[in-house]
Order: sequence, then C-alpha cells, then structure tokens
Amino acid sequence: MCMLTDMMDYGAVLCEIAVELKEFEGKGKVPSYIPELAKVDPNQFGMCLTTVEGTRYEIGDSQVKFSIQSISKVLSLTIAINILRSDLWKRVGVEPSGNPFNSIVQLEYENGIPRNPFINAGAIVIADVLVSQLKRPKEEFLAFVQGITGSDIQYNEQVAQSEKSVGYMNTSLAYMMKEKGNLVNDVEEVLDFYYLQCSLEMTCVELAEAFRNFGETGKPFGHGEYILTMSQALRMNALMLTCGFYDESGEFAFEVGLPGKSGVGGAIVALLPERYCVSVWSPPLNKKGNSSKGMKALELLTTKTGGSIF
Ligand code: DON
Repeated sequence: MCMLTDMMDYGAVLCEIAVELKEFEGKGKVPSYIPELAKVDPNQFGMCLTTVEGTRYEIGDSQVKFSIQSISKVLSLTIAINILRSDLWKRVGVEPSGNPFNSIVQLEYENGIPRNPFINAGAIVIADVLVSQLKRPKEEFLAFVQGITGSDIQYNEQVAQSEKSVGYMNTSLAYMMKEKGNLVNDVEEVLDFYYLQCSLEMTCVELAEAFRNFGETGKPFGHGEYILTMSQALRMNALMLTCGFYDESGEFAFEVGLPGKSGVGGAIVALLPERYCVSVWSPPLNKKGNSSKGMKALELLTTKTGGSIF
C-alpha cells in the first residue's frame, strides 16, 4: 500500500488501481433487461478523478461515452428541489429503501410514497414534477446538464426507446403511484421523460466535472436558474451516501465511505468533500445493479489514499 498525503499523486494511485483490478476481470454481468445496454463491450474501463481545484487525472476509457442511467436522478432532483423546495418531501421520502431499485413491494404498503428519490419509483415522481413544472422538460433538463458539465451532452434516443419497449416494471410502479394519487401527469408522458433522462450519455471526465461542485461544500450547486443552497447541496450528499446504491448503500458506505451514485450503465460517481470528485465506468454489474469493478476501484481508492468522509 502507498502512504499518500494530502498532496497526493492521484495519477499513480489510479495506475495501481487499474493493475490490481485485473484480478476482477470477468466478474459481474452487463444488464440484459435494457436490450441496448446488453450490446456494450464489457471490457471497457475508465476512471477520472478531478480535485476541487480542477486538476484532473484519468485512466483507461475515461473519454468514452456511456449511458449514465440512474446517475441522472441526482440531476433531476436538483431541479425539482429548486422548484418545490421542502414541499417535495411530501411526495418522496429520504430513507434508504433496503430494497432493489425497481421494487414495487414497499411502494404499495407505503401508500405510493417512494422511500427516496433515487429508487425508480422516487425518480419517476421527480420526473412527474419536472413534466408539470418545466415548459419544455426535455430541452430544459438537457440545457441544465450541459451547463453544469460545460460539455455538449446529449440523450441517446435509441437507448430510451429500447428501455421503453420493455419497461413493464417502471410502468407498474407509475400506475401504482397514479392510483394512490402521487402522479399527476399521464404515465406515458412521465416515463418518456424518465427514459430520456436516464439515456443521457457522458464520459468519466464529464461525469466527474458534473459532480465536482457537490464536493465544494462551501458553495451552492447547480447552473442557471437551478442552484441549490449550500444546505440543500449538503443534503444531496447525505442522500447519495444513504440511498445512492439502493440495497447496497450500506456496503458502499462501509467499503468506500463516500457519497456517490451508481447507474446500470456501469458508472459510479463519488466525492470526497473539499478534496475530489471521482468517476469510474465498467459495464458488468453485481447482483445489486452496481458496477462490480467500479465498487472495487473506489474501495481501493479510499483505502490507498486513506481518505473517506469518516
Ligand atoms: O429505470 C431503470 O431501470 C433504469 N433506467 C435505471 C436504473 C438504474 O440505473 C439503477 N442503477 N443502478
């Protein structure tokens, strides 16, 4: 293990991690429930660490675009919090679910109020808020994401369409919430927006850039008219820590110790406040839907650098 100080050579740490991850080749499976994602080359691996000062370290396929999927839920929530503020929490909770990201069981006995905004049901409620509140949801959401990354981010309509064609469980979640009075708009319109937001494509570099500002705890987060106050930005970190990895959130806090968010596209973004934001991408997922290699890479990162939020 290298002993590293605050003036850390993160570049060397990323190189060590890439070497050690060779042992993990072949672990995990690319998700097959979204046909387009099943076609992605499983052997790609990229990582990018950006310090809060803006120094960037990259390794592997760090400039290859991938589907950010559930990571987009943090960005849609940022806009929804701006619009509804504390009223938002009447429609969605802030508790870890302890259940898979697409589980419907809890939703029924908790009266259509999703446990948190990062499980699918919660993110569908947030999509409903954006469909109600934004004049042109697809365009405005995209402009917001482009603004915080400073890059030309785009949706992948083919991935969105592919997910829609088999989105039976999300449709079930949405109708369950409609029946319980927690979904205002037409189910199909909300899901079309939801699938599109999940289909956003970014590189590791763009992802680290998008989330870097969450690591600057002395500053608000956002872009344009959608800026979180400092306190809201801190709470977003709390949500990422407790709910960012579904029923593996405890494991991620235990093994890695950083707030973060994963997506079934195989990416994870995480941050160490006041120090850095890190993104990692490797498509094969573990049984909980989080990138197998990505989880290990981040565990190695915080172990080698001796720094977590605890
Ligand atoms: O709705 C879905 O199932 C996907 N669009 C997003 C799920 C996801 O990324 C869960 N992440 N680990």
